[in-house]
Amino acid sequence: MSYMNRRIKILAVSGGLRPTSTNALLVKEIQKWAPANVAISIYEGLATLPAFDDSTTISESVTEWRRQLSDADGVLICSPEYAFGVPGALKNAIEWTVKSSELVNKPLALITAASSGDKAHAAWLQIFSALSADIPAGGALLIPFIRTKFNEKGEVSDAATKEAILNTLQALIQTIDKKASEEMEQT
Ligand SMILES: Cc1cc2nc3c(=O)[nH]c(=O)nc-3n(C[C@H](O)[C@H](O)[C@H](O)COP(=O)(O)O)c2cc1C
Repeated sequence: MSYMNRRIKILAVSGGLRPTSTNALLVKEIQKWAPANVAISIYEGLATLPAFDDSTTISESVTEWRRQLSDADGVLICSPEYAFGVPGALKNAIEWTVKSSELVNKPLALITAASSGDKAHAAWLQIFSALSADIPAGGALLIPFIRTKFNEKGEVSDAATKEAILNTLQALIQTIDKKASEEMEQT
């Protein structure tokens, strides 16, 4: 099978755990927009992870988080900004990957969706760069005023926002494809 026909697996993670989180809505929307050869699964375990303590006794939830990351060809992060910074639960989850290196060279797209979000977006870019995640050109998107972009059915109703999100997803998919073709050439 050529790499072009290959099924691509993306793990999507919302940094918002509030029942009405717009970021949680966003990952569900993007899941529906995936091209036919792309399966987007949503990581649901953020609230089950213990606070990072560098323990050598790793809980089942941490093992499962790392497994889902390793298993994915790429990762899509949708994050709010809380209190002028990155949300704690998602930062905690990322800290559990620092030593185990699941994000090293992993194609990753970052969407920060908040009221303004610029501080969290800049911080996430620095964090993912420090972890050597592979954020491609066009793979990072800041969406301010996120609540105004949805309709009452929980759908993204703003056409420009939808287009920008689809372009970000496409940048991630292209990077995953490129990586797969390079790996094929090496074998
Ligand atoms: C506790 C809390 C703190 C927030 N702090 C910020 C902030 O510092 N900057 C910002 O742009 N938006 C802030 N917001 C607004 C969120 O960005 C907004 O709720 C948006 O919908 C994205 O978060 P969500 O996924 O939880 O819905 C805050 C929201 C909450 C609930």
